[in-house]
Amino acid sequence: MKEKEWSSELPASPESYWQSSVISPQYEQLTGDLNVDVAVIGGGITGITSAFLLKQSGLKVALLEASRILQGTTGHTTAKITAQHDIIYHIIKSKMGKEGAEQYAKANQAAISAIDTIIQQNNIECDFSWQPAYVYTQDENYIRQIEEEANAAFELGFAAVYSEEIPLPFPVKAALRFDNQAQFHPLKYLNALAAQIPGNGSFLLENTKAVDIQTQSGNIVTTSTGFQVKAPNIIIATHYPFYDGNGMYFARIYPERSYALGITISEHFPVGMYISAEEPVRSFRSQPMDHGKELVIIGGDHHKTGQGEDTRSHYHNLLKTANEHFQVKEVLFRWSAQDYTTMDEVPYIGPLNSKDPGIYVATGFRKWGMTNATAAAMILRDYILCQENEWAPVFLPSRWKPGASAGKFIKENINVAKHLIKSKLSPAEENTKEILVGEARIIDSDGEKIGVYRDMNGQLHMVDTTCTHMGCELQWNAAELSWDCPCHGSRFSYEGEVLEGPAQGPLNKRVD
Ligand code: FES
Repeated sequence: MKEKEWSSELPASPESYWQSSVISPQYEQLTGDLNVDVAVIGGGITGITSAFLLKQSGLKVALLEASRILQGTTGHTTAKITAQHDIIYHIIKSKMGKEGAEQYAKANQAAISAIDTIIQQNNIECDFSWQPAYVYTQDENYIRQIEEEANAAFELGFAAVYSEEIPLPFPVKAALRFDNQAQFHPLKYLNALAAQIPGNGSFLLENTKAVDIQTQSGNIVTTSTGFQVKAPNIIIATHYPFYDGNGMYFARIYPERSYALGITISEHFPVGMYISAEEPVRSFRSQPMDHGKELVIIGGDHHKTGQGEDTRSHYHNLLKTANEHFQVKEVLFRWSAQDYTTMDEVPYIGPLNSKDPGIYVATGFRKWGMTNATAAAMILRDYILCQENEWAPVFLPSRWKPGASAGKFIKENINVAKHLIKSKLSPAEENTKEILVGEARIIDSDGEKIGVYRDMNGQLHMVDTTCTHMGCELQWNAAELSWDCPCHGSRFSYEGEVLEGPAQGPLNKRVD
């Protein structure tokens, strides 16, 4: 049997530049019950920054990570530290008023300053550099959006400039530049913060999976090994909230995957970070590597998780863009990330619900996680310390403005229902004989749908393709070799282990 096609120009396996270029230290596992002031669940930028800031404020914290820190979306970002979030200020202003747009703007600008301050105070070597951030369009239908975003940005006091050209080697119809933005190596920065969390009554614990929160007699995090962490304050920073608290977050946020290539080019990449306003989104930035080499990161091609075409096509699309604009020498890295977006595009940061005091959430950063997560960490610190925070209101998870997001809420949940029904009815193959090396198919086994992947050694891996979250039928992700859920974004390895929540339990394995 022959291997399925995969472009020889692209790396065979996904790996982000960030993860390949640092060795993250390992941390111990929880081996007994703990009592702390704050339990922080999730070892990405939100959890690490929150735990770091809270410990700095004199509290005892325990950061719990189910596997290793910085392995999720934070390890697969494009790492732009910017308050320029493509088209957002005009949207927030029209849906939530100027005050809401101001709070979002101030929070994200403050996040840039906070990252700069932390780097300086702690002498962190993390390739930080100040850069302008551009949103541009090559499509005249988007000129109006750029103009409206420019007007909103001017009104909010950003150092922003409207123009009709950018330093990238292609013409644009309109662009908006924000000055005093930045970029860095996220793992170098966050490993330095993480190193300061353990000690003096605080803990950073890896391979410690939180499975539930009990609220009957104080807030208690229970873990998969049975140990408990008692803490009056709990921050859920697991990307998708692993504990919902009847907050119906599964119906209020939707998952998307997007892709990135790390390439070297013959030209020198111009100063700046760039993103297109139109679809398919294209994002560009550069990153210094060892020995004076420069990596160019091209990202985009997002789609709903578990929906759409063969996922390998997204890398091919990015490669086509790279070849159109640059003399590509090598494609060194490819990686993808999962992000959640709320129905009104503004993250949920604050109390999880109204009935469980002391439990906080931060999610739905809409792919702008570097600044939104840092802002979230500051906002949640202020909640816990009972300090006023002027940016907090726009992010309140309890907001529900039907006029602002009802249409999108209905659309997204119809999309989920459609996939739930459609996938149950979709036809399945009858046997495994035709499955090629490197290929996966869904077969019918006595009326049950089984996902079968044939690995490079010809061995079959068979799992029940019913998502263990709410029962949607999974789709194969050929680029990452995973089974992905089209409903709320859970992802499983071809052997059935959970790669991304909200699902907690693995898929049932099947035998041939
Ligand atoms: Fe909700 Fe799969 S993630 S049904």
